[in-house]
Amino acid sequence: MPLPGNWLLRPSAAAHLLLHGLVLTTFCVYRVTANCSRSCYCSESPEGGLEVRCSGLSLAQVPGDLPNDTRRLYLDYNRITTVPTDAFLGLTLLSELDLSHNDLTQLEPGTFRGLANSLEFLDLSANRLMALDPLAFEGLRSRANLTHNPWHCDCSLQTAMLLLDLEPASLAGVVCQTSEPKEAGVEGLPFLLVAGVDLCAAAKKTTDVAMLVTMFGWFAMVISYLVYYVRHNQEDTRRHLEYLKSLPNRQGRSEQSSTLSTVV
Ligand SMILES: *[C@@H]1O[C@H](CO)[C@@H](O)[C@H](O)[C@H]1NC(C)=O
Ligand SMILES: *[C@@H]1O[C@H](CO)[C@@H](O)[C@H](O)[C@H]1NC(C)=O
Ligand SMILES: *[C@@H]1O[C@H](CO)[C@@H](O)[C@H](O)[C@H]1NC(C)=O
Repeated sequence: MPLPGNWLLRPSAAAHLLLHGLVLTTFCVYRVTANCSRSCYCSESPEGGLEVRCSGLSLAQVPGDLPNDTRRLYLDYNRITTVPTDAFLGLTLLSELDLSHNDLTQLEPGTFRGLANSLEFLDLSANRLMALDPLAFEGLRSRANLTHNPWHCDCSLQTAMLLLDLEPASLAGVVCQTSEPKEAGVEGLPFLLVAGVDLCAAAKKTTDVAMLVTMFGWFAMVISYLVYYVRHNQEDTRRHLEYLKSLPNRQGRSEQSSTLSTVV
């Protein structure tokens, strides 16, 4: 059976393909080990830039080895309860951060530090956030999804909303689940859309009462001190007078005794 003329070329073509595959694989492995977090999957996103996916991995915390050229970071559907200060510091290109569907109960001050210039979208939806700490958002101007959290609307939340720089429309996602005072009528409603409610009015009243009580306390103290002072002085004066009165008597008695002694 005659062999085809290009028989000799075949293995070299196969080797070429193999080599090509090997190079690609090596590159990918290198890319994964050197540029990606150990627990996540990295890819070049179609819009450009590095996309890091850590979704649904039961992570309890934000991985500490995220590549510093990450543009999109997906940490959704994990079990993250808190995000420490400076968790994303150094990710200077990060424009989208998805922390939705976790167990976040609070955000530390400085959580998003370093992202003010790059971040465009922050997803915090479907967590357990009740309070907003403006210090966590430090100058962040991005769009945010704040829906599906058990927001507790009270004076401190109202104050925080005024201090946030987040895109204003995003704040409409803060739907009050509970409130203080309860009778404010904001429960079940987006806080921003409830016009004319001042959750700080009650708090102000409490502060006023506390001030009044304190002032009364001070006043009572001053009065009782004055009373004590006056009484004490009265006693002193009385004793002093008695002493003075007793002086001539004593002198008289001693004169008497001296005359008596001369007589004797
Ligand atoms: C990946 O890592 C290498 C070396 O650490 C670096 O040169 C490169 O800029 C990184 N980023 C990308 C997108 O490859
Ligand atoms: C990432 O870190 C490397 C090494 O520290 C640095 O050379 C590079 O400029 C950084 N890239 C970004 C986008 O910050
Ligand atoms: C906000 O998050 C919720 C729950 O994760 C989602 O259903 C909704 O589509 C999101 N909205 C926007 C504007 O991204």
